[in-house]
Amino acid sequence: MSLEDDFNDVIAKAMRGLVVDVSALAEDSGIAADEIEALLGGAMDEAAVRAICPVLGLDAAALIALPGYHPERVALPGVRCIELPYRWGIVNAWEVELGGVRLLFDAGFGERDIMVGFSPAGIAALLITHSHEDHIGGMKALAAVGVRVISETEALAAGKFVFGPLELEAVDLSGHCTPATGYFVNGLGRQLLIAGDAIFAGSMGGCKSREAHERATSTLRAAFAKAAPDCVILPGHGPATTIKEELVYNPFRPRFAVGAGYVVNQKVLPER
Ligand SMILES: [Fe+2]
Repeated sequence: MSLEDDFNDVIAKAMRGLVVDVSALAEDSGIAADEIEALLGGAMDEAAVRAICPVLGLDAAALIALPGYHPERVALPGVRCIELPYRWGIVNAWEVELGGVRLLFDAGFGERDIMVGFSPAGIAALLITHSHEDHIGGMKALAAVGVRVISETEALAAGKFVFGPLELEAVDLSGHCTPATGYFVNGLGRQLLIAGDAIFAGSMGGCKSREAHERATSTLRAAFAKAAPDCVILPGHGPATTIKEELVYNPFRPRFAVGAGYVVNQKVLPER
């Protein structure tokens, strides 16, 4: 599975989140507007990236390395990514099973897509990360066959859930969407964070305002601070990743990371 965003998507998201247009970015970075337009069009220019990243709060080394980045594959028995169609791309739903207890996180875009190749019988609950159309499309169809639906708001209010051997903690991940909820799942070999669109491998969900962007990075920072060191992130789009890897390789890391010095797979990115 490829990354959700290319390096130019990340630049565009950072500009949108900080409400910085091309002319303002050109003025603040000292880079010509047409060079910024070329970057946004997908032409990598490392010197230009190094100039604009401090203005956008991005990590230049991570952004330059993004085209070659892929998070390490983690074997997760009992965890299944259900890839569902969404316009020109894919949206993930995640099924987690342990000791005969099955949970589903998010429900795709199409009303019936989730029902293809997936048996809702015996699902203890459908838990929603956020109510964007590509995450709740199958919710009504699942509810109609008796699946208990737990909304992002209900989950945050409850805080914790226990489903047999699986213990869930709901955390605020609003910003990209408000409200939005992330779910720490404990009980498997590794802790999971079902993150919705709050973070992707190498990127994060887009935000429509500076306030939303600030909220997205601050809720993410708070969630990361609560996570187990080996926590695996299961995002709404793109491949699974880990908190350790995103603290190194995610270009938005200066916005949400607390401290630095993480080394993953013996690879250390050059100093910014
Ligand atoms: Fe979303």
